[in-house]
Amino acid sequence: MGVKKLIVANWKLNPNTQEGAKRLFESVKKSVSKIKNAEVIICPPFVYIPILARLSVRSLGVGGQNVFYKEKGAYTGEISPLMLKDLNVKYAIVGHSERRELGETDDMINKKVKATLDAGFKPIFCVGEKEGEDKNLILTKQIEEGLKGVSKISNLIIAYEPVWAIGNGKNCSVDEALRSVVLIRSIVSKLYNQDAAKKVKILYGGSVNSKNASSYLREESINGLLVGGASLDSDEFIKIVEEIKLI
Ligand code: PGA
Repeated sequence: MGVKKLIVANWKLNPNTQEGAKRLFESVKKSVSKIKNAEVIICPPFVYIPILARLSVRSLGVGGQNVFYKEKGAYTGEISPLMLKDLNVKYAIVGHSERRELGETDDMINKKVKATLDAGFKPIFCVGEKEGEDKNLILTKQIEEGLKGVSKISNLIIAYEPVWAIGNGKNCSVDEALRSVVLIRSIVSKLYNQDAAKKVKILYGGSVNSKNASSYLREESINGLLVGGASLDSDEFIKIVEEIKLI
């Protein structure tokens, strides 16, 4: 049996009803709970978290797609790490490119990373360059600024999601994903140390589907996947998770 991989589903702004969310979660649960070396986390819209958290099992948990950095107060529309923690949520995506696109800055992302770690759960910190951008420059800036003042990263997960590969079927080649993972580990190593860089979990995300999933999962230095579109089709998503049995 290989090493355990983390597969995170990002449902984004889907589905439209509680019934739809329950149905999708339950059908994934049926197959996924039989797979040994995978931890699967579904990140639904916030409103579905209480319902789905009650249905979760050890191998299938629930995460946030976002989280705010304040514990309480006058912050209309926000959700705090403590509120998520109270629902037994252990993960939250932080700094997804779609949130960066809506105005989230490295500074806000840094506060969110800190707040989630302080609350005792695991941020899935997203980084990635846009088409034509200098990968080295962007990843260095996003990681340095996102982790500013963060002293312990044992609970941190980094998701490498090149923006040009998201939601369009143009997944990043495994070679390039691996080069990016090496680069991320070298940035982390400079900020912390080699041991921390070796241990930090790094996921790949961007047009992952059942056909390309195994090529990433097979790689020892890629610790799992962040799956968007393909996670909305239970059969397709189950196939992705089942690839773990073959590696
Ligand atoms: P995608 O999305 O799998 O649809 O490309 C990935 C993501 O945005 O996390």
